[in-house]
Amino acid sequence: MNVKGTIALLLAASAAFAQQVLVPPYLQPGNYPALTSEGKVLIWQTDSVPGTFMVEFTTGTQFEQAKKISRSKVTVTPLKLNQKTTLLYRSQLGKLKFDQDYIYRVLQNGTVVSTATFRTRTRKPETRFAVFGDCGARSPQQAKISWLVNEQKPDFVLVTGDIVYNNGREQEYRRNFFPYYISARSDSSVGSPIMKNIPFYMLVGNHDIYSADLAKYPDGLAYFYYNDLPLNGAVPQATIEVKGTPAQVEAFKKSTQPRFPRMTHFSFDHGNVHIACLDANTYINPLDPAVIDWLANDLRNSKADWKIVSYHHPGFNSSKAHYDYQLMRLLSPVLEQLGVDMVLTGHVHNYQRTFPLTFEPKKDSTGTQYVISKEGRVDGKFTLDQEFDGVTKTKPKGIIYIVTGAGGAALYDKEMSAKPFMWKHEPQENWVPFTVKMVSDVHSYTLIETKGKTLRLQQLDARNQLIDQITVTK
Ligand SMILES: [Fe+2]
Repeated sequence: MNVKGTIALLLAASAAFAQQVLVPPYLQPGNYPALTSEGKVLIWQTDSVPGTFMVEFTTGTQFEQAKKISRSKVTVTPLKLNQKTTLLYRSQLGKLKFDQDYIYRVLQNGTVVSTATFRTRTRKPETRFAVFGDCGARSPQQAKISWLVNEQKPDFVLVTGDIVYNNGREQEYRRNFFPYYISARSDSSVGSPIMKNIPFYMLVGNHDIYSADLAKYPDGLAYFYYNDLPLNGAVPQATIEVKGTPAQVEAFKKSTQPRFPRMTHFSFDHGNVHIACLDANTYINPLDPAVIDWLANDLRNSKADWKIVSYHHPGFNSSKAHYDYQLMRLLSPVLEQLGVDMVLTGHVHNYQRTFPLTFEPKKDSTGTQYVISKEGRVDGKFTLDQEFDGVTKTKPKGIIYIVTGAGGAALYDKEMSAKPFMWKHEPQENWVPFTVKMVSDVHSYTLIETKGKTLRLQQLDARNQLIDQITVTK
């Protein structure tokens, strides 16, 4: 063999043993709920080949002009899942200034493997964010929505649950989710690298917790590996029951500390918006005192102009799909009392908006217990603000409930789109015409902009056509 051949062989051998990046570095909100301190977290994943990573960051958008370059510590958690070991890295970029551009770069064995810019949160009375749910389904529509949302350059993205189909597993995140939001190029057919620049706040939906039996899905509950969110929420009395061998359960809990199980409830501020995110899965009692006390305290302490609550399973839904599961209606009186302006949900794969409404759940003959049917129906008294039109009448009396679950998974009840006569359900104690708008024949996302006491909601579809718009003022 000649020298060239030997070098080629050596190069091939070193490439075969080189550490492979499986999930490129992406930005996470980190444990920064209030606008008192600011930071972000970078997460990435490689195969089991050891390597040395370094993270550098600075203010501005170019390293060349930086006066000072900071380095952040890199930690690594080995994940032994599916008989394969991978390495999950985290790096916390702390003590950041508000309302400031930053650039970061991740170096692997001295070579830059990723670089991107981001902007920190503002304390000014404004923000602009995108919302969608039910997305990680490996669909062309998911790529379109990712691309369109990235083009909007929102301050952050809120995902209303069902992040990854079908069971929220680590291998599903790597196949059905990350390729669409950390894609190498930005294109409507492939997605965008949005997660490199823009933090995603993601709620747990039902699909995200379907893999809680680690004996069946050793890489289950990957939500807790891949997210890094505020840890200021309640721990409910009943939460996700992790099953599997004692060794699996112990390894899972060790790898996800301090995030499991606390991270399914959290709240945060961006500009003049405060958002409280709740777990609405079926193991949760919506009136769990641990959750209600936390929520009441959280919302009462907020000085934000706009108070928004988000959870996965909608209480007010006029689709046929998931109609009967209405347990989150029980929360309405509490949310009304706490001055909540809007509720953002997913689960139903379409877009729906209600009139501003108040709801009094029906009580039993003793007048002490709410009545819930075995399917999960909650009857009650609706009061609709039908004068509100979001154009000339913009001060709502009640809460506006949004379903925005058309982020990528197959749509539900397409034939009901824009046909109010098809939305009717029985009896009147359970359904009145609370839905003003339903668009179910196209994928879409929500864009919310606030400026002081004005909030504008737009719903844009996968062709980037405006399909709904309201202005809310106070
Ligand atoms: Fe769902």
